[in-house]
Amino acid sequence: MIVQNSTRKPIVAGNWKMNGNKPLIQLLEDSLATADLAHLEVVICPPFPYLGMFGGLNALGAQNMSQFDGGAHTGEIAASMLKECGCQYVILGHSERRAGHAETNDVVASKVKKALEADLTPILCVGETEEIRDSGNLFAFLAEQIDAVVQEIGVNEFSKLVLAYEPIWAIGTGKTASPAQAQEVHHFLREHLAKKNSDIAEKIRILYGGSVKGSNAKELFSQQDVDGGLIGGASLDPEDFLSICLAAKQ
Ligand code: PGA
Repeated sequence: MIVQNSTRKPIVAGNWKMNGNKPLIQLLEDSLATADLAHLEVVICPPFPYLGMFGGLNALGAQNMSQFDGGAHTGEIAASMLKECGCQYVILGHSERRAGHAETNDVVASKVKKALEADLTPILCVGETEEIRDSGNLFAFLAEQIDAVVQEIGVNEFSKLVLAYEPIWAIGTGKTASPAQAQEVHHFLREHLAKKNSDIAEKIRILYGGSVKGSNAKELFSQQDVDGGLIGGASLDPEDFLSICLAAKQ
């Protein structure tokens, strides 16, 4: 059984996906600078070319990286390069990468390993389609996504990871998981890890992602096992993104 731990510092990470532009960088930084956000970690994950254009006020993350160290992989980016560009985080296993770029659980696991070797913090995404949820295989499916990574890096390395639960049916659809649905899965993920290492399970931060907005963030983030959010569409709106940051648990 996991005891509630108030020492998990919340994270709100904005995943711009293939959106945004140079002016948005300034607008977002100006908006975030108007508030005291010391109670959480704010992470911005813009497209690669913009990574070097931020002012250093907030942590930076990439949206993907290669599972290779370097060499003849045209168009790919290595973990060490992200580190050199000031990234602290990297989103791995996003459902858009899994579905649109054939990233299997094994590929995701090897990327997580490479990210850790470069001292980047992976934000490891897991999540199910509506069909999987309806079929009753939700928890087995999520366990498989987690276990592929456990097998590759060992459970102790999960102390260096952030997890993100992103139900695919809620991404970009406006159909948010209810706070109870999010809590149910976050609790499952924590208990699943607790069977392997209860200390790590208690400390790991689990973000919710899928149509989070300023208007629903507070209720989602108030759930016991929800430690912040991975925000797509709303991260492109500086005002809404700020209100999501302010909704993170104190
Ligand atoms: P959304 O995307 O907030 O636009 O639903 C979340 C994500 O894909 O990370």
